[in-house]
Amino acid sequence: MTILSMSDLKLKGKRVLIREDLNVPLKNNVITSDIRIRAAIPTIKLALKAGAKVMIMSHLGRPEEGVPQEQYSLAPIAARLSELLKKEVPLITKWVNGFNMGNESVVLFENVRFNKGETENDENLSKKMADLCDVFVMDAFATSHRAEASTCGIIPFAPVACAGPLLLSELDALAAIMKKPKHPVVAIVGGSKVSTKLSLLESLVQKVDTLVIGGGIANTFIAAEGYTVGKSLHEADLIDEAERLSLLAKKRGAEIIVPTDVVVAEKLSEESESSPRLVSQIDDNEKIYDLGPDTIKKITGLIKKAKTILWNGPVGAFEVEQFSEGTRAIAKAIADSAGYSVAGGGDTLAAIESCKVADKIDYISTGGGAFLTFLEGKPLPAIVALEERAAKKEKVT
Ligand code: 3PG
Repeated sequence: MTILSMSDLKLKGKRVLIREDLNVPLKNNVITSDIRIRAAIPTIKLALKAGAKVMIMSHLGRPEEGVPQEQYSLAPIAARLSELLKKEVPLITKWVNGFNMGNESVVLFENVRFNKGETENDENLSKKMADLCDVFVMDAFATSHRAEASTCGIIPFAPVACAGPLLLSELDALAAIMKKPKHPVVAIVGGSKVSTKLSLLESLVQKVDTLVIGGGIANTFIAAEGYTVGKSLHEADLIDEAERLSLLAKKRGAEIIVPTDVVVAEKLSEESESSPRLVSQIDDNEKIYDLGPDTIKKITGLIKKAKTILWNGPVGAFEVEQFSEGTRAIAKAIADSAGYSVAGGGDTLAAIESCKVADKIDYISTGGGAFLTFLEGKPLPAIVALEERAAKKEKVT
């Protein structure tokens, strides 16, 4: 199904309300990664260049709804937007009941989740937001898996509703990798729990040639192979699932790479004594924190030969230097590979930034949960709403 695109519309003099995902990590009110803000800039610039009056809205964190709280204010985001756009972007705190742009060309509305009814996708709130604009642009791919008033509810009520360039480029990049990827396809999935990524693993195992697993997920697969994983994070109740996924891969001639060696320590600390171990040699009091050298060598070799590479999740506790080798080696191998590479997920982006390889990865998704939902093959509610709106074939200019 098709979606109306912002670039097909005449925006001159129109009040254009753009939903971005500016939900960025903050520490003591300081932005620690501005990837999502930078990703939104081209859309905002395009609308401004077209002569639109631009209103931007986003959520930040998960505040108690209806209760403005300073720690969730978009003030630091307004400041960063002003720097990147090289023009003042005022933060508007009272906007939902009506807002006049006056002489402003671009403003940022305060956290949408300060409004009661946002996360419940309340119809009245959606209508109020729709009333603020002539054109609504949904550009927040990273929040498109949430059916909320500002992402979804507004779409049927806005005078015109369309997708922004960032949203469309995310969908294109992910569709390219999932629908007609060049083989061999290698997917790397790290993270702590099989349970949170079960649908993703299930979806990937049916599409890729090689599925590399790391982190706590790999520990559950190591346990499924009959080894003791000591005190490592793993899910004993999902061992059957791990076995089933391995069988599923085998049946279609694909392979799940379960680590054969790992790095262990008694606790997660810079001061811990860490040692490489074969998976058959893990002691009862040890914990697995990274992939071992043989496993890293095997994986980087596969990445080198891959034509398509998908990466979600660090494969070890990369935030601690001595357990970061696996994740760093994977980041470097992807950066050096000639294959088409796509990466996404909050921790993955942090690893990519820390390894300084962002410019060598073909597509970095801004999505966390949305990225996973897409890869799981599940519908994204905001995209469905845009498709339904486009299906009405209204005449728009
Ligand atoms: C994300 O960080 O994945 C998105 O901004 C969505 O945030 P949420 O999980 O709080 O809805």
